[in-house]
Amino acid sequence: MALTCRHRLVNLYNSSCSATESHLTTIQITRATDVLPEEEIAAVQPLVDEINRLKIERNAIVAAHNYMTPDIFHLVADITGDSLALANLALEADADVIVLAGVKFMAETAKIINPEKTILIPDLAAGCSLADGITGADVRRMKAQYPGLPVVSYVNTSAEVKAESEITCTSGNALAVVESLGVDRVIFTPDQYLGKWVASKTDVEVILWEGSCMVHERFTGEEISDYKRDMGDIPVIAHPECPPDVLAEADYVGSTHGMIKWVSDNRPRKVMMITECSMADNIASAAPDTEFVRPCNLCPHMKRITLDNIKRSLETLTYQIEIPQDVAERARRAVTRMLEVGRQD
Ligand code: 13P
Ligand code: SF4
Repeated sequence: MALTCRHRLVNLYNSSCSATESHLTTIQITRATDVLPEEEIAAVQPLVDEINRLKIERNAIVAAHNYMTPDIFHLVADITGDSLALANLALEADADVIVLAGVKFMAETAKIINPEKTILIPDLAAGCSLADGITGADVRRMKAQYPGLPVVSYVNTSAEVKAESEITCTSGNALAVVESLGVDRVIFTPDQYLGKWVASKTDVEVILWEGSCMVHERFTGEEISDYKRDMGDIPVIAHPECPPDVLAEADYVGSTHGMIKWVSDNRPRKVMMITECSMADNIASAAPDTEFVRPCNLCPHMKRITLDNIKRSLETLTYQIEIPQDVAERARRAVTRMLEVGRQD
């Protein structure tokens, strides 16, 4: 496999790399030394070298979500991005094996759209409160309650829930997906806050499942307005999984990709970023003039992924994602339909 821009970056630390050299636009080009102390890099260097050797041996890549810790994000990830970018990657990647440094629903999505590839998750317990809070049977019950209404499911769901849905969405295209259906009413699962945010932007009536993200639901509007009062009126950017009173305080609401883009387009001196903590660490080096203020909530699921278990995953080719064929086929229709709508932010 040809070395990607990121492989070279890891090897040389100080090399620069143009966007055209990397085959995916969501990649964050940065220098590891800008974000990680040199001693920390030196301490993990043998592990990083071993992971990079195994990647070549296995014809594998590491695809990392924006919430991974900076060592994973900057030292071993070939591709970084939000859920939508990681889904697209599974279609485009020139590799036999993809290690999904993220949570299980992301690995399942990759498997759904690319059943030929070996998709690995380093820890099967890396779940998600949204995905774990709804089953296929729950969706069938909602469909029986609202006959004929299409179901839009956030990608933060199991393959079984996707299979019961007409289309999936991510935080990077939820509004466009809902409006793409051309109907007056939809069932939206499982994130009530993303659903409410979409409902506030469209005339389509959105019937909600009352799920929530255990990380973003902990932020409160009061906390954000207190910060704003104490720090001066700095811009606030927030993920749409936050409750409505938090989003009411925000100047921009979008996916993790959208928030990174907002910072790079606007180059604020200071910004309050309301999402999982690791995001700010990861993008700090790409925005050296921006100070990130953030109430810090960590996702315990995302934090199960470590350099150690990525190495073990590549060594032992575990844990492989398997989805029953009939479920995968129905889920693929919903995910493919979403990919055709594309990105909105
Ligand atoms: P993004 O698709 O915006 O990266 O969000 C995924 C997620 O799980 C946020 O909590
Ligand atoms: Fe799920 Fe929330 Fe963690 Fe994202 S941050 S993976 S939505 S629990």
